[in-house]
Amino acid sequence: MLSLTDVHAGYGNLPVLHGVDLDVAAGSTAVLLGLNGAGKTTTAHTICGALRVWSGAIHFDGHDITRWSTKRCVDAGVVMVPEGRRVFPDLSVGRNLQVGAWTQRRDASWVADRLEQVLGYFPRLRERLDQAAGTLSGGEQQMLAIARGLMARPRLLIVDEASMGLAPVIVKDVFDIVRRITADGVTVLLIEQNVGALEVADVGVVMERGRVVRRLVGEQLRDRSAVSAALMG
Ligand SMILES: Nc1ncnc2c1ncn2[C@@H]1O[C@H](COP(=O)(O)OP(=O)(O)OP(=O)(O)O)[C@@H](O)[C@H]1O
Ligand SMILES: [Mg+2]
Repeated sequence: MLSLTDVHAGYGNLPVLHGVDLDVAAGSTAVLLGLNGAGKTTTAHTICGALRVWSGAIHFDGHDITRWSTKRCVDAGVVMVPEGRRVFPDLSVGRNLQVGAWTQRRDASWVADRLEQVLGYFPRLRERLDQAAGTLSGGEQQMLAIARGLMARPRLLIVDEASMGLAPVIVKDVFDIVRRITADGVTVLLIEQNVGALEVADVGVVMERGRVVRRLVGEQLRDRSAVSAALMG
């Protein structure tokens, strides 16, 4: 469904991605692991049209999306939940969710139906629809960030560092929801430094210095010490 082929990109004159190859199958959860600065967020930004690709190609669902704008990517179903949550703190939970459906904003009944579907995953958000997002706990804000991404009805959801800064029990809740989202047909690319994310992975991909250096499947995903060793190079 998603494939990156020899993708090079960077900032200004500074190259960061040195030929990224990545494949994510439809209906799967892929976990992209790597240490700080490996190029994970940069990779995500190239996929969703937020950063220009210098060379190489990105295909999604049979389309060459290498040069597509973010808006066009969202319309095609490629949605990213950014690192650091970035909810609008002064807006209510409900308004934050509506913002996630901005491309459909002219169709109020579509947005209302979608809100019901999304809240089905997040009962705690339903209880807090009128609460200012900035007053939510860290875990709730992460849930809101994911829920806001889902409001656009993605076919591919890219979630950047969902587990960062959260207590293990909350991380488990987040990963359980990711499982349900995937089960409902959304392909998920989780970007993580937390090796525990491999529990929900169909495939694990390790990035190092702007390249994909390892691909883990099956038993390899459960072998934590091998994974940690792979991550540390
Ligand atoms: N806007 C920017 N301008 C210049 N350099 C940048 C910019 N964003 C990222 N970089 C550089 O690109 C490299 C890769 O950063 P990136 O954010 O993709 O890493 P990451 O794998 O997501 O790391 P982390 O786990 O810390 O989020 C780093 O060396 C970083 O300094
Ligand atoms: Mg990052």
